[in-house]
Amino acid sequence: MKLIITENYQDMSSKAAQYIVDIVKGNKSAVLGLATGSTPIGLYQNLIAAYKGGEISFADITTVNLDEYIGLDGTHDQSYRYFMNDQLFNHIDINKDATFVPSGVGEDMQAIAEAYTALLNSKVQDVQLLGLGGNGHIGFNEPDTAFDSTTHIVNLKQDTLEANARFFANIADVPTKAITMGIQNVMNAKCILLVASGKGKAEAVKAMIKGEVTEACPASILQRHSNVIVVVDKEAASLL
Ligand code: GLP
Repeated sequence: MKLIITENYQDMSSKAAQYIVDIVKGNKSAVLGLATGSTPIGLYQNLIAAYKGGEISFADITTVNLDEYIGLDGTHDQSYRYFMNDQLFNHIDINKDATFVPSGVGEDMQAIAEAYTALLNSKVQDVQLLGLGGNGHIGFNEPDTAFDSTTHIVNLKQDTLEANARFFANIADVPTKAITMGIQNVMNAKCILLVASGKGKAEAVKAMIKGEVTEACPASILQRHSNVIVVVDKEAASLL
């Protein structure tokens, strides 16, 4: 695991974005595994700037996202599809048909999950970007998710609902279920790039890097991946 500690959020965002810029420069048809949440927003702004500055093109890039809320379709402004369009895809030259976010709406969610895993097996991520939940979750793989899990439906934990309530009018509006790439789907990526910022992530960062590898802390599995880059600001690194 390569650990980079930055002075602040801006620095974390630009350093982490540089890894993705380099991958895109080296492979114009790379598969990028992408993440939502507030943490990667600055990274996405750096990618947009690299595109607008003529440094990179996304024309032949494919993206696969980690997760989606169950019950929100892509037009809902808190859906992760909406987030990706709004924060990145609408501002770059990517072909939207090559951007994949698991669907949170459908009659047979189990079939949707299985189809997403099949898609991931056919489009292996050259890099998988991850944020980090305060409880150590990655994607929506909550504590005690099996390390060999593939795309599945989850019941979100109370602390995750509370953390994500800030984006909704009130906590009762936060969907209680999500569809997420499983931990095995994340670990299949050739490279994993995790970003975390702020004191609220310090415990989870410590457990991920220094704690035992345990399903109680999903991110701890990253200790077993051979190509992981963790970029955190100094507040998130404060307990290391
Ligand atoms: C959500 C997402 C995760 C994300 C986490 C942290 O639960 N499903 O992928 O990493 O939130 O979000 P934030 O970056 O806003 O702290």
